Amino acid sequence: MEEFRLQKFLAHSGVASRRAAEEIIASGRVFVNGKRANDPSLKVTVKDKVTVDGKTVTVTRTKTYIIMNKPLGVLSSASDDRGRQCVVDLVKLDNVRLYPVGRLDYDTQGIILLTDDGDFMQRVTHPKYEMAKTYEALVKGEPSEDDLSRLRQGVELEDGMTLPAKADVVRFKGPNAVVKIEIREGRNRQVRRMLDAIGFPVLKLKRTAIGGLGIGDLRVGAWRNMKHRDFEDLFGKQEAKKLKFG
Ligand code: URA
Repeated sequence: MEEFRLQKFLAHSGVASRRAAEEIIASGRVFVNGKRANDPSLKVTVKDKVTVDGKTVTVTRTKTYIIMNKPLGVLSSASDDRGRQCVVDLVKLDNVRLYPVGRLDYDTQGIILLTDDGDFMQRVTHPKYEMAKTYEALVKGEPSEDDLSRLRQGVELEDGMTLPAKADVVRFKGPNAVVKIEIREGRNRQVRRMLDAIGFPVLKLKRTAIGGLGIGDLRVGAWRNMKHRDFEDLFGKQEAKKLKFG
C-alpha cells in the first residue's frame, strides 16, 4: 500500500497546500489514529485515520498534475546538464518528482503539463491517442487559403507525411500573419517545420491548448494544480470520467 508523508497526505486531501499543511501539523491540529502528530514526515497510508480539528480527512488524489504557462528560454525537461532553467525548476514542491508531459521548444511559450503520474503522461503523449495541440504562430508573410489547405491535407517533411492539421489565419500583423494550427502529433519542431515547408517561417510560437484545455489567463511563468474541470477540458467529459485521473 502506498505510504505518504503526512504533509503530502494533507496536500493530496485538498486540506491545504504543502506549505500550509506543514504549519497545520506544527500547530498540533492533526491526529493520526487518535494520536497528535507533529512530524510532517510521519508515514501514513489511506488506512490510517487522519483528522484535522477533529474532522476526518481522506485522500482524494495521490498524484500531482500541474498546468503551466512556460516562458520562452526555459527547457521542457526535468533537468539540464548545461545548467539551463527547466520547467520543473519553476515549481516549488517538496518530495514530488515531476516530469513535463511532452515537449515544448526552448523558444516556444505556452501551455505545458507536469506530473508524477506515468499513466497520465502516456495518455496525453502516446501517438495512438492523437491528442490535439493548438498553437498560435506568428509567421512571416500572409498565407492564402491555398497555402493553408496544404497544412489541412498534411505536409511532406523529411521524417514523413504529417497528419492533416486544422489551420486558419486569425489575424494579420503588418506584413505578417498569426496562424492558428492544431496538430495531433508531437514530432520535433513540427509546427515550425510544417509552416517552413509551405513557405511561411515562424517568427514566434505559442501553444494555447492541449485537447480542450486552454491556457486561459495563467500568466507567463505561472502554474497551478489542475482542477477537476481541467481534466474534463483536456479529455472531454465522458473520457475524463472513465479515465479517473486527478
Ligand atoms: N512545434 C514546434 O515547432 N515547436 C514546439 O515547441 C511545439 C510544436
